[in-house]
Amino acid sequence: EMTNMALIFDRYKDRLATLPKEKGWITENLYMYQGFWHQPSRRISVETVMALQDTFKAHPTDIYLATLPKSGTTWLKALVFALVNRNRYKDNRLSTHPLLVSNPHNCLPFIETEVYRNTPTYVDAHVHSPHLFATHIPYTSLPRSVLDFGCRLVYLCRNPKDVLVSMFHFANKLRDKSRGLLTLEEAFDLFSKGIMPTGTYWDHVKGYHKASIEYPQNVLFLTYEDMKIDTVNNVKRLASYLGHPFTDEEEGEGAVQGIIRLCSFENLSEVNKHGNLREDIPNDAFFREGKVGDWKNHLTDEMSCILDKITREKFYGLDITS
Ligand code: A3P
Repeated sequence: EMTNMALIFDRYKDRLATLPKEKGWITENLYMYQGFWHQPSRRISVETVMALQDTFKAHPTDIYLATLPKSGTTWLKALVFALVNRNRYKDNRLSTHPLLVSNPHNCLPFIETEVYRNTPTYVDAHVHSPHLFATHIPYTSLPRSVLDFGCRLVYLCRNPKDVLVSMFHFANKLRDKSRGLLTLEEAFDLFSKGIMPTGTYWDHVKGYHKASIEYPQNVLFLTYEDMKIDTVNNVKRLASYLGHPFTDEEEGEGAVQGIIRLCSFENLSEVNKHGNLREDIPNDAFFREGKVGDWKNHLTDEMSCILDKITREKFYGLDITS
């Protein structure tokens, strides 16, 4: 995989050099490609987006989970993995469920990392259909075949202020120590200018929101806040959309609550207390507070007002509750 990464970075280095760049949160810089900011030369990076656009072949039954970083990707991955595979693990003892021994990011991969594999996962798509992938790629930059096949997409949106605060903490955990810590003021400044990995925040949300209105059968638009307030109904909705609706018998047995408990912040943060997802990312980096409105403990009233104003303007006339 390391060799493939090096080959891909090398293949796109001339194109990378032509892109506008800005200061980054984790990486030193972010690069603007097709209207969005991307990290360079990482597993999830602008080179990966280019490589996927050039080579990735979706399968019509694939399902894609799309999010901005820090919008609840880890939670959505866990829920979808648990929902779709629930019969596979039903008869085993609970302790063998992958989500009890492994990070959700290991259970459901990003397509961004598929281009590095020698044997792309999509080759096996017909074996374990539907095939599940996650992505941070903006709607308009998705590989052509994902859209041409009309693959089902699930988008999870989170309110901008919690995304900013979550990203601020995450970046400070992962930044190269030699760069020092990002201050909240710097993070706010970057975020409000739209500069964050796969941002702007507002254009990323708007792209998928528009698609969910144009193609309601193909794009399910969920929010982190709705999922928190009414987890049961949203999980049932998600199950039906994924083609795995709960039967009356399952509901009677408490299967919905079982999956919610398995994927809860409390449970997953405990499972992922130790160890590393990769050498540079500890498992616990994806679990911090897991709440709605933690921004109130961090942002000043002025920061909050400015972000509310930007959001009102950018989302004017759209029914996006965040
Ligand atoms: P906070 O930093 O606000 O706590 P992502 O998975 O997209 O990287 O997003 C991470 C955010 O989702 C973090 O938010 C994290 O705590 C929260 N999170 C992780 N697992 C969760 C879960 N099972 N339920 C709810 N929130 C979760």
